[in-house]
Amino acid sequence: MKVETIAAVQGDHNLHNYEEVSSDFNWADVEKEFSWSKTGKINMAYETIDRHAESDRKNKVALYYQDQKRHESYTFYEMKRMTNRAANLLKAHSDLEKGDRFFIFMPRSPELYFAMFGALKMGLIVGPLFEAFMEGAIYDRLDDSEAKAIITTPELLPRIPLDRLPNLKTVFLVGENVEEDGKIVDFKKHLHTCSDRFEIEWLDKEDGLVLHYTSGSTGKPKGVLHAQYAMVQQYQTAKWVLDLKEQDVYWCTADPGWVTGTAYGVFAPWLTGTTTVIIGGRFSPDAWYKAIEDFGVTVWYSAPTAFRMLMGAGDALVKEYDLSTLRHVLSVGEPLNPEVVRWGVQVFNKRIHDTWWMTETGAQTICNYPSMDIRPGSMGKPVPGIKVAIVDDRGNELPPNQMGNLAIEKGWPSMMRQIWNNPAKYESYFMNDKWYVSGDSAYMDEDGYFWFQGRVDDVIMTSGERVGPFEVESKLLEHPAVAEAGVIGKPDPVRGEVIKAFVALNEGFEPSEELIQDIQQFVKKGLAAHAAPKEIEFKDKLPKTRSGKIMRRVLKAWELDLPTGDLSTMED
Ligand code: WTA
Repeated sequence: MKVETIAAVQGDHNLHNYEEVSSDFNWADVEKEFSWSKTGKINMAYETIDRHAESDRKNKVALYYQDQKRHESYTFYEMKRMTNRAANLLKAHSDLEKGDRFFIFMPRSPELYFAMFGALKMGLIVGPLFEAFMEGAIYDRLDDSEAKAIITTPELLPRIPLDRLPNLKTVFLVGENVEEDGKIVDFKKHLHTCSDRFEIEWLDKEDGLVLHYTSGSTGKPKGVLHAQYAMVQQYQTAKWVLDLKEQDVYWCTADPGWVTGTAYGVFAPWLTGTTTVIIGGRFSPDAWYKAIEDFGVTVWYSAPTAFRMLMGAGDALVKEYDLSTLRHVLSVGEPLNPEVVRWGVQVFNKRIHDTWWMTETGAQTICNYPSMDIRPGSMGKPVPGIKVAIVDDRGNELPPNQMGNLAIEKGWPSMMRQIWNNPAKYESYFMNDKWYVSGDSAYMDEDGYFWFQGRVDDVIMTSGERVGPFEVESKLLEHPAVAEAGVIGKPDPVRGEVIKAFVALNEGFEPSEELIQDIQQFVKKGLAAHAAPKEIEFKDKLPKTRSGKIMRRVLKAWELDLPTGDLSTMED
């Protein structure tokens, strides 16, 4: 069978020859780019901002920020000053110290980034939270991490259960006329009175950087800790994969509440001194195309759901905007359908480059590079210097074309360093002390391209957002009508998957459209809008194992009209 390919892009790319570079690459060489190689110390905020502010890039725009109300830009020099002010502010109004967890829970705005990098300058570990999270989700994450401070807005403040979080000593509020007390500090008021000089806290390369909570198929969300050293891979992939160059204007559409929004929203582009666009507000096809036109975006990193929504908005719309500056387009987060890749070529005359990675990998891991042919539907090939393989359940490497566990050889630079508070969980990801097992299944073809097949576990990817079924089930069970709940991802042509819940009701409750809506609202308000089941189906009883575990596999088989497989562990 002939495989469909889209030929490599001609031109001068940072990664000119994949095979040659892969055969002989040493990560230690990348370390030379950073202060660590000279002083033995490091700080992400220095490498992303101050270093450029002290160079020829001083007056180059670092950040273009735009939402419906604000349209601002900051040079690297201005970012240095604003983040110094923020660092001084955090220091003066709290007892935060190196290694303490500082959370960010607010919509995108310049202040979010001032605070994030100010916190990094102090040596704090930054924990970003998606703004759609509600009280239950917030509590779990702040409690587990023993967060000491948070920055938020007056609108979101009521969702933070302050009285149940004894470790949370300080709340920085970004709003107008904030009423301060022993706990609440007015961020904007103090920002402009704080000094714009700050002595950076110099760190070791293994010191903490960010703590991203993410979902698995069981248990509460897990805190994935990354070290400062992640910058080595983030920097190098910004070069090879994003193909960033001095004149580029880069836009990553991800929210900083997710790993893509930190690692590739700001770290990777700023490590290379690239002008970066941040757009606030909600997704709309017009606003997105307009952003590309307004800023002259050259490199654009987004996600399959967004591309599918743009596709759905029609090709005529594309012609209303000048998108001629675009030179490189990339995607992450879910399988990128070949159809979408073909659409990209047709309407933008650009290949959409799929990239695969996850919160735990800390940076791009399997990618398509401009200088390499694309096989639509394939995630591409491993980043040079990283070994990826398909292994069986015992950790044996499988030959090409056999489906198995997608695994990465331990020790890549941006590998997660800890699951917060849970060393046993951390260890459970590794097999034979050699392989990190991703939870995805895939195969590799004879030419070394990797093809995604699905999740091995029950994790749901909806609109590119990772949702743990357990978290949703737990919330459902708190609803007075719900006796049992099982949650699965149901395939959806636009969102990849949507969340479907099977629910058995308590005595005295009857299925109804009203009850469905009430339960949906309950999850929306208690957890997050994106975690609320789009569909709810009532059942008298749910399939369970004898030990009482809901068998999601059976629910999925019901849903998809598939054989239910081995039912020997099911209760009668
Ligand atoms: C899925 C997002 C197919 C995968 C950066 C992975 C993908 C999970 C792709 C991680 C891709 C990510 N093709 N599936 N190119 N990229 N995934 O932690 O199942 O939010 O395990 O990280 O997203 O999601 P996470």
